[in-house]
Amino acid sequence: MSADPEMLALARQMMARAYAPYSNFHVGAAVRGANGKLYGGCNVENSAYPVGNCAEASAISAMVADGQARITEVLVMTPGPDMPSPCGSCRQRLREFAAEDVPVHMAFPDRILKTVKFGELLPYAFVHGHPGN
Ligand code: THU
Repeated sequence: MSADPEMLALARQMMARAYAPYSNFHVGAAVRGANGKLYGGCNVENSAYPVGNCAEASAISAMVADGQARITEVLVMTPGPDMPSPCGSCRQRLREFAAEDVPVHMAFPDRILKTVKFGELLPYAFVHGHPGN
C-alpha cells in the first residue's frame, strides 16, 4: 500500500525537527484523524533519558489537542538504516485511538518500506476499560 505524498512530506518535516541530541536518531511521525486531517510529531529527548517522548506520542498528542479521538492511518519515519517501527509503548498508545485494521506505514524519507495493519503490531492488546471509541 502507498501512503499519500502529503503524509510522507509531513513526516519528513517532523523528522528534521526532532530534538534528539542523545541518540542522534531522528524520528518523524504522522497520524491521520477521522476528520481527515494530518497531525505530525517528532521525538523530543531529555538529559534524563526516560523522560523523552517518541514521535508517535507527540503526533497523538497533537491530534487529541485538536479534538480528535480516532486514528485512521499512521506513518513513522527514520533516516535509516534501522527499520522504523513503533516501539512497544507507542503501540499501546496507538491502540487507544486506532482500530486493528488501521494501516501503519514504516518509511525512510524517500520510500515506504512496509505497510501493516495495526492489529499485526499489537495482537491481544490490553484494552481493559477502553471506551471503545
Ligand atoms: N523513537 C521514536 O520516536 N519512535 C519510535 O517508534 C522508536 C524510537 C525515538 C525514541 C528515542 O528518542 C530515539 O528514537 C532512539 O530510541
